[in-house]
Amino acid sequence: MNKVCIIGGCGHVGIPLGLAFASKGKDVTLVDVNPRAVEAISAGRLPFKEEGADALLKAHVGKNLHATSDVSVVKKQDVVVFVTGTPVDEHLNPKIHDVVKVLDAYLPLLNKRQLVILRSTIFPGVTRIVEERLKAKLGAANLAFCPERIVQGKGIEEIFNLPQLVSGVNKKAENAAAALFASIAPKIIRIKPEEAELAKLMTNAWRYLEFAIANQFYMMVEKQGLDFYRILEAMKDDYPRAKHFARAGLAAGPCLFKDTMQLSAFHSNEFFLGHSAMLVNEGLPNFLVSQLEAKMGSLKGKTIGIMGLAFKADNDDIRESLSFKVKKLLEMKMAEVLVTDEFVSGTMPLKKFMKEADGVILGVPHSAYRKLKVKKPFVDCWGCWR
Ligand SMILES: NC(=O)c1ccc[n+]([C@@H]2O[C@H](COP(=O)([O-])OP(=O)(O)OC[C@H]3O[C@@H](n4cnc5c(N)ncnc54)[C@H](O)[C@@H]3O)[C@@H](O)[C@H]2O)c1
Repeated sequence: MNKVCIIGGCGHVGIPLGLAFASKGKDVTLVDVNPRAVEAISAGRLPFKEEGADALLKAHVGKNLHATSDVSVVKKQDVVVFVTGTPVDEHLNPKIHDVVKVLDAYLPLLNKRQLVILRSTIFPGVTRIVEERLKAKLGAANLAFCPERIVQGKGIEEIFNLPQLVSGVNKKAENAAAALFASIAPKIIRIKPEEAELAKLMTNAWRYLEFAIANQFYMMVEKQGLDFYRILEAMKDDYPRAKHFARAGLAAGPCLFKDTMQLSAFHSNEFFLGHSAMLVNEGLPNFLVSQLEAKMGSLKGKTIGIMGLAFKADNDDIRESLSFKVKKLLEMKMAEVLVTDEFVSGTMPLKKFMKEADGVILGVPHSAYRKLKVKKPFVDCWGCWR
């Protein structure tokens, strides 16, 4: 199993995975429909920030790692990994058709000797649907589901250190996937496809709920004019059971929210905790704007700056960032809105931003922002500028 191709290979999950396999001597091809990402990788450039990936890319690109939009390469592979996006639709239902459509497009290029691995975060039952489609077309399914669990931006470090959940639709596929991932992961945990699908969704939903608890408490406390972080620090001080209590913050990005909603759809939309978490996390932007209003009075005609547009600190990914919701809310208040983010092109330089803004909302605490002395009225739910 030396030749591995990754469909969706130039995305946030595909690149760390491809680099990890390449670093262990596999012959890796990243197949992607995004020509700009393919071009960047081929030229030895990352299309987005990914810690530690630069050196690996330079070491392997053009040697045992290639990127291409030419899907015909799939025919020559031993392993075909699918890691394209799995969003929810406008009614928050999983778009299962998207996964199936991608698979169908590649079916004519697959053969039954190849190991097919699903790595996207999928709705429970999708592995079995894909199994049926492979059997119908190829007469057999050599299929595994091995979910990705890295945290975005730190994939290279994590991929070599996290245990890998491995499941297969039969023992042959499970063993083949376990052997492949044993080359990069320190530990293989074997479970059934249905269990692996749920394990991944439950992990993300649990994380989303953790943030919701912190955000709910933040709003509860701050509304009374008290300081959430003074209480949080007191709670956590030498008290082991509160050690992992999350800080408040805009809980956004392409995974946690949509995977909580996938899990809810799986449970007939009766995942009440998940929906409550959504109300809390999605409601935080409104609370932040009201906090600023409490400090500044009406925001109409005032210039308000949002510092940080990415969905998480020290990252350049703006997908599903709640800073954009803050921006819309401020515009509804008829404020003039400025945005700055050192990692997002087209935003205002920090110095000019600080000079022009009458008030500031911290959208995301990039390292460079944490030590700033902000002398204007501000709202910082992350607890950096206290
Ligand atoms: N981003 C993360 O940190 C993370 C972590 C764990 C799991 N996941 C899951 O992994 C999956 C992918 O997420 P992502 O963040 O890497 O998405 P992404 O959008 O960064 O990457 C997906 C890539 O697939 C490509 N693509 C789309 N259709 C294609 C096709 N037909 N053929 C070839 N390429 C195609 C896109 O151009 C894109 O480069 C999702 O299910 C997500 O939930 C993501």
